[in-house]
Amino acid sequence: MMMRQARRRSQQGKPGVEEHPGHRLMARRGFRLACGAIAIACLVLTAAGARAGEVVRTPSIFAPTSTPAFAIRELAMFVLGITGAIFLVVGGLGVYVLVQFRRRRGDDGREPPQVYGSRQIELAWTVVPLLIVAVLFLVTARYIFGIERRQPPADALEVTVVGHQWWWEIRYPRLGIVTANELHLPVSDPARPTPTFVTLQSADVIHSFWIPQLAGKTDVIPNKTNRTWIDPLQTGTYLGQCAEYCGLQHAGMLLTATVHTRDDFARWVATQQAPVRNEAHAFRGRELFASLACSSCHTVQGTSAHGVFGPDLTHLMSRSTLGSGVVRNTPENLRRWVEDPASLKPGALMPAMQLSREDLEQVTAYLMTLR
Ligand code: CUA
Repeated sequence: MMMRQARRRSQQGKPGVEEHPGHRLMARRGFRLACGAIAIACLVLTAAGARAGEVVRTPSIFAPTSTPAFAIRELAMFVLGITGAIFLVVGGLGVYVLVQFRRRRGDDGREPPQVYGSRQIELAWTVVPLLIVAVLFLVTARYIFGIERRQPPADALEVTVVGHQWWWEIRYPRLGIVTANELHLPVSDPARPTPTFVTLQSADVIHSFWIPQLAGKTDVIPNKTNRTWIDPLQTGTYLGQCAEYCGLQHAGMLLTATVHTRDDFARWVATQQAPVRNEAHAFRGRELFASLACSSCHTVQGTSAHGVFGPDLTHLMSRSTLGSGVVRNTPENLRRWVEDPASLKPGALMPAMQLSREDLEQVTAYLMTLR
């Protein structure tokens, strides 16, 4: 007892304990732990944000809200587990060898005994990785087929999404709605799922449709029709992004999915199906829109504008952004966009129309009536 106390006292009073090199190591380890904790906190916060049904600013595959996205997270965790274990074993052996066989004082500089060829070791490092890759491949294939095999029920919502440089055309063929860049969906009740099936086509080059919290990426390929599906289980707005490099504004090809309650979705459908009202004060702007080149690229239902090259503008003001998510849809931004789209989205294929100040005001005023 006395001896133990004495030993403890002598450890506490150990001279020079501050300078111990282990402290620096500990500090570095502390830094790494802090980094890890911050990363985990970010993930947890993202997940918490999604749970509250808010807009998650950083779309994360770790905060799924739809069956295919849940499956993908499960698979990602499995792959992360296996690859993490490999990292620990390989990294651990590396560190052990570095520490154990480092140059020591009094080293005689001779090479250690060299070993050539070992059937057991060579077999082990060939067969074990092969088995691991086979397991990863088979499990991944199982998840892919599991997601792809899902057949649409009769009452599934059908949406066609067409990728353009650099925006998304969104069609609801059975509802007669055409919009752009903002997908609207009903929430799916797990007890009676109502999934949305998305048909994907491209008008020009290869794009990729990706809303990380709802489903995995699906390529959008010219002259080929791909399908994917989502069944969002929570209301909220989810961010998406074109995930295949498609030219200058690939990064400016954003997309949102707004998931509504069934009633809210029915309301949204009704507003999109309603014809636009011709407001008297916008008469001059409407004339200009029809006579200028606008109508050869854009459609406004119920008018002579039937262009299909650019987004359908029938209910432009119901959308929250312009230029596929690059700026908020405010009167000021709308005016700037009509004046010179490239000032907000360099490379945008819509030309600057060189309108006079007066005409610019009139056209903008007309567009603002398209609610
Ligand atoms: Cu479209 Cu990248």
